[in-house]
Amino acid sequence: MNEAQSVIVETPSEAVRLVRMYRPQARNALNLVVRRGLMQALAEASEACEVRAVILTGDDKAFAAGADIGEMKDASPPDIHARRIEAFWESVGGFQKPLIAAVNGYALGAGCELALACDIVVAGRGACFGLPEVRLGIMPGGGGSQRLARIAGKHVALRYMLTGERFEAEAAWRHGLVTDLTADEETLPTALAIAEKIAAMPPLAVAKIKESVVKGLNAPLDAALALERQSYYFLNATADKEEGVAAFLEKRPGRFSGK
Ligand code: CAA
Repeated sequence: MNEAQSVIVETPSEAVRLVRMYRPQARNALNLVVRRGLMQALAEASEACEVRAVILTGDDKAFAAGADIGEMKDASPPDIHARRIEAFWESVGGFQKPLIAAVNGYALGAGCELALACDIVVAGRGACFGLPEVRLGIMPGGGGSQRLARIAGKHVALRYMLTGERFEAEAAWRHGLVTDLTADEETLPTALAIAEKIAAMPPLAVAKIKESVVKGLNAPLDAALALERQSYYFLNATADKEEGVAAFLEKRPGRFSGK
């Protein structure tokens, strides 16, 4: 199977990219080829001005069942270092446009970490999450221990990471990992509807809101509030703010230019 087939990019509309991990024979396990394909798809979506939101998905059996365990077998720390896995995680965590995970089936290990690194997570009721790395004698290495603790809190993170137990979509929703819990067949349509809604919003406001939340979470509150204030002032000088306010007062939909 070649690289192009391991990650399939679709364009459900001009403004929305759908990036699908496709390695069904291995439950979409993230080997080097899939990771490289995802990085390329994200870089292209980032460059394309018309793209306003990106959905990451897998198939009905798995979002992704983790890093490829076969590739881990004989890997020494220098081998792992040489793979520059952090470049992959930076391309996901640093992606500037809204990133929506549409999860059905297994989201385990690095697959769960991938969902955790997205901005919005839609999951079917049959989805199953987990960070089972402890069972392999390792630990999450793609941000999972930090992101799960920040999203769900220390107790929930340690409860699942120390036992390696999987948890269902409903529990993931209760713990705040999942924003939208749907019937399995509604996962992708729900993610698409959210993506289209975001795509219709003023792009500068969308970008600044994401930046403020993501960067703000990594900063002390004072610095985060200063970042929010700067972005807020900036948006008040945009044509889209003028249009948004005028459209509200004139009781009509806004027509945003991204300026
Ligand atoms: N890596 C490589 N191959 C994998 C895989 C993985 N993470 N997950 C599944 N596969 C392969 C299986 O080996 C199997 O291949 P064969 O048909 O050649 O035997 C195929 O996918 C189908 O898998 P199963 O027969 O096991 O399917 P299932 O539906 O019965 O179970 C599953 C699915 C629960 C996901 C199970 O495959 C499983 O437990 N997979 C491993 C999950 C895991 O431990 N993930 C964490 C990886 S470590 C990690 O992610 C590290 C990190 O970031 C630092």
